[in-house]
Amino acid sequence: MSDEGLFSEPEPHFEVPDAPPVSTLVDDAELGPTGRPMPDLTRPAPPEPGRTMRARVISMCNQKGGVGKTTTTINLGAALVELGYRVLLVDFDPQGSLSVGLGVNPHTLERSIYNLLLSRQYTADDVIQPSSVEDLHILPSNIDLSAAEVQLVSEVAREQTLKRVLDRIRGDYDFILIDCAPSLGLLTINALTASDYVIMPLECEFFALRGIALLTDTISKVQDRLNPDLEIMGILGTMYDGRTLHGREVLERVVQAFGEQVFHTVIRRTVKFPETTVAGEPITTYATASPGADAYRQLALEVYHRCHAQ
Ligand SMILES: Nc1ncnc2c1ncn2[C@@H]1O[C@H](COP(=O)(O)OP(=O)(O)O)[C@@H](O)[C@H]1O
Ligand SMILES: [Mg+2]
Repeated sequence: MSDEGLFSEPEPHFEVPDAPPVSTLVDDAELGPTGRPMPDLTRPAPPEPGRTMRARVISMCNQKGGVGKTTTTINLGAALVELGYRVLLVDFDPQGSLSVGLGVNPHTLERSIYNLLLSRQYTADDVIQPSSVEDLHILPSNIDLSAAEVQLVSEVAREQTLKRVLDRIRGDYDFILIDCAPSLGLLTINALTASDYVIMPLECEFFALRGIALLTDTISKVQDRLNPDLEIMGILGTMYDGRTLHGREVLERVVQAFGEQVFHTVIRRTVKFPETTVAGEPITTYATASPGADAYRQLALEVYHRCHAQ
């Protein structure tokens, strides 16, 4: 499957969608890094221990590699666990970076998400692994998943395969976060079809907006044809360097283009994130008092409030 998207129609012109108006209600409030007043991000009460769960499913998606999808999946997941939730992280990239980032060696896996997608012999319990953080579980993947992409092409309802797997375990978690591969192929279409929301991490670099039109176009097609319930939860600025004019300009441009869709939380560039990959744990435990850990804690609150906004 090529990176050109599953739907074989010409690439849309680069056109920035109409931005929802930026709220200017509170003008004396402190401005966040996106230049807008910070909203009230009250910490929710801890969830009841015996609650009935039905996980909200969120995909991290951008066909560009190296924009912070995997880092966001791991650290947003860990921050949601700190709020008291049970969270499953789905590694849906054949490179297995999410698995590596949580200390799981993809090369020695006996079973991976591949087995769940292509055989009825296994249940999720056979594949799900714990992580170093309690209540943060992982559905690991490895290079086998790239074979699944090819094999699924001939299956009936090939776009709904991941949804069928996840629907069976939604009752066991509060959140399921899917780390997508850097492509818009069948795997990513499966992730979007299985999701309630999509988060688009966007590197605060000059060419960041390139490719966003193709991504939003793919999301609209999934909404039209496969999953009318899918919503864009937000655009997350990552690798932000507020000390440079360039960084601030790119973020300003992103906010001009996407308005309130842009999360107030911005993830700054710091070497702590590559270090956490080596350590095999989230930043919330590796460097618990660091600004990077706090940024993902704030993102978790924004995600909570955006899920409960209706
Ligand atoms: N905020 C950040 N600051 C510095 N490095 C980062 C940041 N976020 C991610 N990285 C690093 O950048 C690389 C790519 O990030 P990753 O999350 O794997 O992107 P993707 O999953 O989109 O390919 C990784 O080495 C990661 O550790
Ligand atoms: Mg990745």
